[in-house]
Amino acid sequence: MPETMTALFGGTGPEWTTRQVPVAQPGPGQIVVRARAVALNNADASMLADADPAQGCTGKEYQVGYEFAGEVTAVGGGVDTPAVGERVMGTTPGSFAQYVLSDHRNVLPVPDDLGYEEARALPTGLLTEHGALVVAGFQPGQSVLITGATSIIGLIGVQIARALDAKQIIATTRTAAKRDLLKQVGADTVVITEKQDLTQAVLNATGGEGVDVVLDHVGGQTFAACLPPRSTAPWSTSAASTPPNPPSTSTPCPTATCASPESPSASPSPPNSVPSAGIGRSGAHSGLSGPE
Ligand SMILES: NC(=O)c1ccc[n+]([C@@H]2O[C@H](COP(=O)([O-])OP(=O)(O)OC[C@H]3O[C@@H](n4cnc5c(N)ncnc54)[C@H](OP(=O)(O)O)[C@@H]3O)[C@@H](O)[C@H]2O)c1
Repeated sequence: MPETMTALFGGTGPEWTTRQVPVAQPGPGQIVVRARAVALNNADASMLADADPAQGCTGKEYQVGYEFAGEVTAVGGGVDTPAVGERVMGTTPGSFAQYVLSDHRNVLPVPDDLGYEEARALPTGLLTEHGALVVAGFQPGQSVLITGATSIIGLIGVQIARALDAKQIIATTRTAAKRDLLKQVGADTVVITEKQDLTQAVLNATGGEGVDVVLDHVGGQTFAACLPPRSTAPWSTSAASTPPNPPSTSTPCPTATCASPESPSASPSPPNSVPSAGIGRSGAHSGLSGPE
């Protein structure tokens, strides 16, 4: 490995700036990856704006990026896997650099039939959506509502739910333009929220029962509509408020995770229930900022 490398930094103004910095040596449990491809996440853009001193924001400088793929060039003590030379994809702060320092647990092997360009953007989406399904207590054979399903990670959520044998997947989009896309990736029912009432459409699609699990990517009134009935489901709520793996200099990102600690007994909503009556029994929320 060379002694120095080029890396991108934020917090210096409205644009990223390049710098020559030392290539880090891996400490215990860490690896260094030669980055062959990196992916731009929405969080990268919002963090740049949040740190821009020209706009009166933090002005705290940080090495940019999260998502990357490449081959391992060095491993620290206690790292059995991955090995030097292995192709990996991962997400960790500071990935927009020629060499990425990462905890070895933050990477996955790149499947043989995937190139770096395909692999680079997968881990964050896979971890977010699979993790949300796990938090929500999803089990094969259950029904899932995925709001904001045409978002980058929503599309992954639909495909994971399909791969994990969801009984029924209902996906939302605001307009009909992406209906076919959602069908192609695995949605059974597509709800066009600018034309259809979400609560009514979900109840119609589920014979009045509502869904077992909701993955909400929208927030606001949509999230409220997805909550279980208050009388039967004491939801616990925690605001994660973080981008995928924030550096210590980061400012809060508008995300949150909410999950039901248990699946309450089925309590079908009446056909004409209002949004506050709820259409899901368990869920995870990853809020899309801004009103519906
Ligand atoms: N990307 C990630 O790695 C990541 C990780 C964790 C959490 N999240 C969270 O997941 C959500 C989606 O992120 P993303 O990066 O995947 O988004 P994205 O790719 O930019 O997609 C946003 C989609 O949401 C829909 N949308 C936009 N504004 C909306 C509004 N006001 N009301 C309802 N729907 C709206 C649009 O779909 P239609 O035009 O089809 O309606 C749009 O395609 C965000 O809340 C984000 O914070 C993302």
